[in-house]
Amino acid sequence: MTKVVLVGGTGVLGHALVPRLLDRGHAVTVLAPGPRPAPAGADRVDASLLDIPGDELAGVLAGCDVLVNVATAVPADPAAAGAWELNTRLREEGTPRLVDAARASGVGHLVQMSITMVYPDGGDRLLDESTPLDTDPARAALVEPVRVMEQAVRRASGDGPSWTVLRGARFAGPGTVQDLQRRRLLGGTLPIAGDGSSWLSMVHVRDFAAAVAATVEIRPPGMVLNIADEPVREGEYTERLARAVGAPPPPYDRSLVPELPSQRVSSAAAHRLLGWKPVTGIWGGVG
Ligand SMILES: NC(=O)c1ccc[n+]([C@@H]2O[C@H](COP(=O)([O-])OP(=O)(O)OC[C@H]3O[C@@H](n4cnc5c(N)ncnc54)[C@H](OP(=O)(O)O)[C@@H]3O)[C@@H](O)[C@H]2O)c1
Repeated sequence: MTKVVLVGGTGVLGHALVPRLLDRGHAVTVLAPGPRPAPAGADRVDASLLDIPGDELAGVLAGCDVLVNVATAVPADPAAAGAWELNTRLREEGTPRLVDAARASGVGHLVQMSITMVYPDGGDRLLDESTPLDTDPARAALVEPVRVMEQAVRRASGDGPSWTVLRGARFAGPGTVQDLQRRRLLGGTLPIAGDGSSWLSMVHVRDFAAAVAATVEIRPPGMVLNIADEPVREGEYTERLARAVGAPPPPYDRSLVPELPSQRVSSAAAHRLLGWKPVTGIWGGVG
């Protein structure tokens, strides 16, 4: 039995991941600050990664084989002033704190979530893990905290736990951005930006949870792995989602720039090292 501590396990990913880990015989302790309940069957510690006292954190990590960090604080209103401050702190302060605590407590392996959104616009090019992160100053507020977070994990090499970073594509499934997209399609307010040829990389949260669970067991050391389903073009994606929810075909608006850069993410390394393949798919549950 593996003892897993899951930081931030009360959210969308936590609820998909914990049952999977428990089914495979692992013991799970969830650490999170807010009122949302932990998934059934997991032990719960009510604390914030940002201010839990060091000795308390060491107590939580005692005997931990694999520490998994999925904590994030995505704001309700992303455009509000200072909205991303807490999420940035979780990346720039929380992860280094966790790495130090894992080193001091003798944790065996650390699995840190990251995001593929930090790659630059690649046009039609496949983006694998060797692609440098985006250096566009306009995207620095998103990219730089992720760079700091990943560097903190890399610094565990040597005297700290072995580690794997999973760069996840945008989540699909209940409780994700797809809920808003469905509502906007039904209300006729989700046009396709540009000519619809921009690439989108997404992954169903259940498939992502399967990749995390495989990482907990295989523990590929010192690896950064992309976890994305087959990329699709934005026009194809939006039209198919509209059909699935019974919404009218979304119009094209050539004056609009796509919300995200064109990112055609390759997960070939995860297929090879984790034996991971998406099963539910980004259309899971929506036809
Ligand atoms: N959503 C996406 O499209 C996407 C894509 C790729 C990768 N990811 C990554 O996947 C992971 C999980 O995302 P999710 O969708 O499951 O997020 P979520 O539903 O918002 O859940 C976030 C979790 O982090 C916890 N958390 C917030 N502040 C914390 C703190 N100070 N200390 C400890 N825990 C804290 C939350 O607990 P409370 O509820 O108690 O605050 C909750 O358990 C994140 O690392 C995210 O970056 C997400």
